[in-house]
Amino acid sequence: MKKPKNNEDSIPQKPILSISKLHKRYNKGKSNEVHALQGVELTVREGDMMAIMGPSGCGKTTLLNMIGHLDRRSSGEIIIDGVDTSTLSDGQMTAFRRDNIGFIFQLFNLFPFLTAVEDVETPLLLKGINSRLAREQAKMMLRELGMGDRLYHMPTELSGGQQQRVAVARALINQPAIILGDEPTGDLDSTTSSDIMNLFRRINNSNRQTFVLVTHNRWIAEKCDYIVHMIDGKIIRKEDNPSARMEKEQ
Ligand SMILES: Nc1ncnc2c1ncn2[C@@H]1O[C@H](COP(=O)(O)OP(=O)(O)OP(=O)(O)O)[C@@H](O)[C@H]1O
Ligand SMILES: [Mg+2]
Repeated sequence: MKKPKNNEDSIPQKPILSISKLHKRYNKGKSNEVHALQGVELTVREGDMMAIMGPSGCGKTTLLNMIGHLDRRSSGEIIIDGVDTSTLSDGQMTAFRRDNIGFIFQLFNLFPFLTAVEDVETPLLLKGINSRLAREQAKMMLRELGMGDRLYHMPTELSGGQQQRVAVARALINQPAIILGDEPTGDLDSTTSSDIMNLFRRINNSNRQTFVLVTHNRWIAEKCDYIVHMIDGKIIRKEDNPSARMEKEQ
C-alpha cells in the first residue's frame, strides 16, 4: 500500500533509523585490528533521502553493512522503525531484513542462472506472493526502469548498466521502508545514473521510502535531502540540502 505523500498536512516525520554509539572493530583483539566505526551517531527520518560521503576507507560500507545487518556490530544501538535490532534472533532478523530493507550494491550480484524477470520476482516469491502476481509486478518494475525488452535475458546477456537496473528493480520490488545503496549508480554513464536517481526521487516522494546512499559523486549527493560526511569511522558533519527538499515538496 502506498504511504501518504509528505506534505504540510502530514504528520511530522518519525525516525525510521536511529544509531547511537556504534562501533565496529575488524579482527578484534589482534595486532591488525581495524576500528572501522568509532561511535557513529545518526538519525534518519522516514522519507529522508540521505547521502553518505567520505574518503576511501572511512567506514561508509561498514556503516551500511551494520544498518542492513549483513555483519555484526561490536557495540552500540541500532533502532529501525522502533525495533531495537539487538533484541531479534537471527531468524527474526532475516525476516525483518527481508521485509524492511532493500540493498543495492555496486557489484550487482544478480543470480547467474535467473533471467531479469525471475531475479526481480524472487523477493516477492520468498514472501509467499502468488507467482502470477509476482511475475506481473516484476515486469512492471522492469518496464519502469526501461528494461521492458530485456525481461528474459540472463545477466551475462546484459550490459553493466542493465544489470544494475535489474539489481535496482529487485531492491525496490518489495517496497522496503529503507533502501541502502553503496555506490548504487556505480560505474554507470551519467544518463543512466541520472535516470536511476530520478527514479529513486520519485519513489521517495510518492511512497515515502527512505534512502541511504553512499556515493563519491557530489552530483548524486546533491540530489539528496542531507549529506552526511564521514572521516575515520565518525560522522563529522551533516549538511542540509534545502534545494533538493524544496524540489521534492513541489
Ligand atoms: N572484513 C574486513 N576485515 C578487516 N578490515 C576491514 C574489513 N572490511 C573493511 N575493513 C577496513 O575497515 C575500514 C573501513 O572500510 P569500508 O569498506 O567501510 O570503507 P569505505 O568508506 O566504504 O571505503 P571505499 O570508499 O573505498 O569503499 C578500512 O580501513 C578497511 O580496510
Ligand atoms: Mg565502500
